[in-house]
Amino acid sequence: MADRLFDNLLADAKEFFREKFGCEPTVFAAAPGRVNLIGEHTDYNGGYVFPMAIERYTIIAATPTDSDKTTIWTKDCGNKMVPTVAGDFTLSADVAPKDSPDWASYVQGTISCCLRKGATLKSGFNAAIVSNVPLGGGLSSSASLEVSVATLIEELSGHKFEGSEKPLLCVDAEHEYAKMPCGIMDQFISALGQKDCAMLLDCKSEKPEMVPMSDPTVSVLITNSNVKHELTGSEYPERRAACKAVAEALGRKLLREVSMDELLASKDKILAMKNGEIVGETLFKRARHAVGEDVRTLKMKDALVAGDWATVGEQMYASHESLRDDYEVSCKEIDELVEIARSIGPDGGVIGSRITGGGFGGCTVTLVRTDKADEIAKKIAQEYKARVGKDATIFVTRPAQGARVL
Ligand code: GLA
Repeated sequence: MADRLFDNLLADAKEFFREKFGCEPTVFAAAPGRVNLIGEHTDYNGGYVFPMAIERYTIIAATPTDSDKTTIWTKDCGNKMVPTVAGDFTLSADVAPKDSPDWASYVQGTISCCLRKGATLKSGFNAAIVSNVPLGGGLSSSASLEVSVATLIEELSGHKFEGSEKPLLCVDAEHEYAKMPCGIMDQFISALGQKDCAMLLDCKSEKPEMVPMSDPTVSVLITNSNVKHELTGSEYPERRAACKAVAEALGRKLLREVSMDELLASKDKILAMKNGEIVGETLFKRARHAVGEDVRTLKMKDALVAGDWATVGEQMYASHESLRDDYEVSCKEIDELVEIARSIGPDGGVIGSRITGGGFGGCTVTLVRTDKADEIAKKIAQEYKARVGKDATIFVTRPAQGARVL
């Protein structure tokens, strides 16, 4: 099933390229989206995250040209809202970012950041991009676009980025050109994910540890609430600023360096703070989430390795509650999805469920018993429709391979 999806997407990329350029593409690069199992809004605090790559990809088909001109077409196969558009790109390390970023900003930003990091291109190229990573679903469609472009540039230039270089330059592109102050999780997992493994990433040392996740009796169910999440607004930078303010008030650079005991002991001090419009009580809640989430992430990773599914489930629900109540990045539709999964419970095959990604809509991630996965998906879809009046889109995925040249 996963292979068929991938092959269809690749065939679509080739067809799209031929249609737009009238010749055959010769170079192909792919990068996946991701789902985060736990460790939400911890990456920019230097904490731990635990994502895995999913069997949904962005694929680029390309051919070098003999001119300086670079033209790239894009369309999104699963999302009719994305128009089919072309852009012309400049092969220079210092192109000025646009005031209002669009899809082309991610591409131009990645090209420029690759060139800054030492890649050189002898000529321009033509390319066609297709993707089946849902847009606005909190599954890192942007990171998969950046990482696929960077992987293409590696192949076209013959310059291979080492280790964390590629994900980090993609983060630079997102900060500077897409103007989104994201953490490092999405680009790391899209670039370095491995089949049948989740990744425990220490976002302070920036060192990933691959954690085998190959138990065939457990499956990962992704449920899209179809409430579009938008992280380009003020909410994400505000959360980030709140965490930074609390860390600094406690004499640290990152909340990762603050323990729960220390945070609780400093409660009065934090309650007396104000950061812009954000009052002390809110600052305390934001920090309590970030500090607690690190503890939950490490616990869940150990429990997952040990096959202790009851503990895995507890951590997932606790993470969701913290994101809902303390971090306030959930929404009623997502809360319903988690509640529905929880009410099916372990006897019905549900191990745990939570919101995944940046929040304000998007998807939930639910760990389920493989033999019950179809039944659970049906129940969730029916109940969601009944409670919320919307259709959920549900799919099962295994931990997938990260970026690669095809
Ligand atoms: C978005 C960002 C990530 C991370 C998550 C929340 O996906 O791009 O860096 O902060 O939100 O965990």
